[in-house]
Amino acid sequence: MTINMHPSMGLKDSIEQRRAARSFRSDPIPDAALVEILRLGVRAPSGYNLQPWRFVVVRETENKERLKACAFNQRQVSEAPVVLICCGDRRVAEPDYIESVIKLGAEAGAVNEAYADVMRQKIPALFENHPCFQHVEAWTNRHTMLAVAHLMIVAKSYGVDSCPMEGFVSDQVKEAFQIPAEVDVCCLLALGYVAEPFKPYGGRFEIDQVFFGESYEQPLTL
Ligand SMILES: Cc1cc2nc3c(=O)[nH]c(=O)nc-3n(C[C@H](O)[C@H](O)[C@H](O)COP(=O)(O)O)c2cc1C
Repeated sequence: MTINMHPSMGLKDSIEQRRAARSFRSDPIPDAALVEILRLGVRAPSGYNLQPWRFVVVRETENKERLKACAFNQRQVSEAPVVLICCGDRRVAEPDYIESVIKLGAEAGAVNEAYADVMRQKIPALFENHPCFQHVEAWTNRHTMLAVAHLMIVAKSYGVDSCPMEGFVSDQVKEAFQIPAEVDVCCLLALGYVAEPFKPYGGRFEIDQVFFGESYEQPLTL
């Protein structure tokens, strides 16, 4: 078995060859590769660059067993060397947090004082009036799952397989891993090296079934 310390697969192959792994070997993911997967995963975009995603990285056997018990005993949870509890933090509209995003952007040369003031006004208003979402949980999920998608594709480029999982009881996970009430658990993501052949590929709908032209259900001509 070869464990890749550098990405070995291009973007197109990483997307086409990523599959949901239902079994994992016990081989660890080298730290250097894991760090890069995590770093690149959170290059995902977010509204106002708020980056509400947070991840609990579970690697200890005992903790994976506890997580598995909250996840309908799915074997991937205990077999994978790494399982991420992928969360979205609703507290990103708090003033201190907004200031931390402003500071980050200012240090990168991307946020000036005028835009900082816009952020100070508009972010709290977004969460108070929420014209762009009905429930904050939709907002945290929207963002966290984008990062999860990045993580899976980047992982594949390092030869690391993954399985995203919604099969878990959120309240149980929150209690077992001390996740605050204002933080939503969006999914679990098992990462490692697949042990058994993937299930047969289930296929994807054709482009013209899922992409419309100009308005809903109008044909797209390309
Ligand atoms: C949000 C989400 C939740 C999922 N939950 C589970 C799960 O709990 N257990 C599981 O084995 N697979 C889970 N999957 C994997 C899907 O079953 C899988 O992605 C789908 O069948 C398509 O297969 P593919 O990813 O190999 O192309 C989930 C996938 C997504 C995106």
